[in-house]
Amino acid sequence: MPDKIKSRVDTLISNMSLRAKIGQLNQPETPTENNIEEFKEAVRRGEVGSILMSVGATAGNDAQGEINVDFYNELQKIAVEESPDGIPILFGRDVIHGHRTVFPIPLAMAASFNPELIKKCYRDTAIEATNDGVHWTFTPMLDLCRDPRWGRIIEGTGEDPYIGARIAEAVVAGLQGDDVSNKDSMLACAKHFIGYGASEGGRDYHRTEISDYSLYNYYLPAFRAAIKSGAMTVMSSFNDISGQPITSSRKYLTDILRNNLGFDGFVVSDYDAVIQLIKQGVAENSEECASMALNAGLDMDMHDGCYMDNLEKAVNSGAVSVDVIDEAVRRILTVKMKAGLFEHPYTKKIKLNRTEHLKDAREMAGESIVLLKNNDVLPINKSAKVGLIGPFSHERRSLLGSWTIDGKADETPTLAERMREVIGGNLNCISSSTLGWNSVNKNIAAADVVVLALGESWSATGESRAVSDITISSEQKELIKKAKTYGKKTVGVLFCGRPIAIEEIAEDLDAVLYAWHTGSEAAGAVSDILFGDVQPCGRLPVTLPRKATHIPLYYNVTSSGRPVNCYYGENPGNCYIDSMPTPYYPFGYGLTYTTFKYSDIKTDISKIAVSELKAGKKLRVSVNVTNKGTVSGKETVQLYIRDVCASIMRPIRELKAFKKIRIAPGKAENVTFDIGYEELGFFDDKGNYIVENGKVELYIGENCLTGKKTSIEIV
Ligand code: BGC
Repeated sequence: MPDKIKSRVDTLISNMSLRAKIGQLNQPETPTENNIEEFKEAVRRGEVGSILMSVGATAGNDAQGEINVDFYNELQKIAVEESPDGIPILFGRDVIHGHRTVFPIPLAMAASFNPELIKKCYRDTAIEATNDGVHWTFTPMLDLCRDPRWGRIIEGTGEDPYIGARIAEAVVAGLQGDDVSNKDSMLACAKHFIGYGASEGGRDYHRTEISDYSLYNYYLPAFRAAIKSGAMTVMSSFNDISGQPITSSRKYLTDILRNNLGFDGFVVSDYDAVIQLIKQGVAENSEECASMALNAGLDMDMHDGCYMDNLEKAVNSGAVSVDVIDEAVRRILTVKMKAGLFEHPYTKKIKLNRTEHLKDAREMAGESIVLLKNNDVLPINKSAKVGLIGPFSHERRSLLGSWTIDGKADETPTLAERMREVIGGNLNCISSSTLGWNSVNKNIAAADVVVLALGESWSATGESRAVSDITISSEQKELIKKAKTYGKKTVGVLFCGRPIAIEEIAEDLDAVLYAWHTGSEAAGAVSDILFGDVQPCGRLPVTLPRKATHIPLYYNVTSSGRPVNCYYGENPGNCYIDSMPTPYYPFGYGLTYTTFKYSDIKTDISKIAVSELKAGKKLRVSVNVTNKGTVSGKETVQLYIRDVCASIMRPIRELKAFKKIRIAPGKAENVTFDIGYEELGFFDDKGNYIVENGKVELYIGENCLTGKKTSIEIV
């Protein structure tokens, strides 16, 4: 910490009353008309360190209304000019995947395999949100998840720790900008620490069982990367791990987060999580909740007021020491100072031109959409007659996805509108096509190609929105079956938040485009791809199972000693005797409008010593990738490793690098990866990173099932 900030913070703390200190640890939500005067008094007394700029326990599910910048400036003025220490309030809001311009849901952005573009989108987001007075956002959400039933899988980066880490870096860099004290930089918050995505059965907030070995190797890498990239805040998670609520766990919040991962910012609780320790059965009363959480290393209390109401008592009873409170205050004030809040506490809203942001949104959506199947139907010729049917043909709100507090459905074009811009009168569509089969009937009969706009509602995803059935509705499946009877080419566009069980849907369609909930420009991006103006290039950051009953199904598993449950459930008949157990579409999978051939995989050296790796030496792995088609296309070249024999079982494949490159038709590119210490080791259950001797296989290809490999020996 720069000395100047440190001494400013120390001076402030030395003059603060205990109550004012506790006030800095307190984050109430935006007041309503009923408590506004009372709220202003609390600000005046210095009891409001931060404000959650929304109302309700599941802000992403409810309409919140636009941000009233003048109102927040007014509260800020009271804090700066009338409160005892004049400390500005930190305003935080869930700006999860865009602000007024909505970018694809985070899971879809992960499918872009394009961290640079993700960074750009989060820069745009910070520019828009800080213009509305938001200093701090509760993103990136880095919960690794293997269960598509969990509604919040849409907020994360999927099943892979490596992608999670790359995206964490991109989001933090985009939000916080080159200098976090700039007015248009927004503080990032890596959440939810830790293990929330492993909630049993996909049921939100439920218990988890995660061994320390799995924690270090699967769940922590994205947080480690966010912290290394300078994320200044972390949100603790609601869940427990093996009976330890994270909210009150010194092991997770201090030993691991601070001591092992080196985090030196502040930790905020999740909404009401402190008081919930009573329900979780580890605290008897609110005073105990407050002291347990603070002593564990949780600095700021979101919403429940438990710190504000209890910490003075806890100091008097000796349950909490003033030193622990000072430390939490120090962390919060340091972040406030680093963020430049003392220099620019107020917001002067200007009129923003969002044209470039909307362009980025369309590009990002285009990069995120995954072409899963294409039997000679896409791209559609612009002179063809296209019938557009299905419940999502005229949908606006769901295209934005969950956690879209500031996006506007009425500003979001529908697929019908965007397709009509391209093919005008060649498009036939009706709006509610699961009803009124007769009009659908005419529509299909007149068409050369039928596009079915299908999917799940945004409201079936997000917080507290787990589902037990991860397929689309039976009406939509019926629609696919009916459309098929006409013998026309059919294209399914799936606007889904989560990975869905895909077998029965994909079998009946000629082409399948997984369009996710891809934001303000989702429809434009789909239309670009349907008509070939943009080449599809997204890749799955999660496995698409054949059936929901195959969950959990994820690629980075260990090998069984017996044929049952072999890699990704291979060996039909041994894994499940009643169904084909392999993924329908594996991790990393996605098609383009051309095909690529991989050849000549090699490494520049065949052996490398652990000591050389530690000293920074890398080996170079290279491969030739040739575009065998007639159009240019983007390929995501993926490198996986397998540590063949280690002191603990290692996954059969682990993604360790990728490059997304455009290759002209008929041309070849030599793609290289430099692999070193960071990629070749793993963590033991104490959190020590180790690289062991032995053979490592290096796989390069188009998805995790590639068989193309070479190997090296670590000596
Ligand atoms: C969610 C967080 C969110 C917070 C504030 C909680 O219910 O779990 O992700 O940031 O609310 O809205």
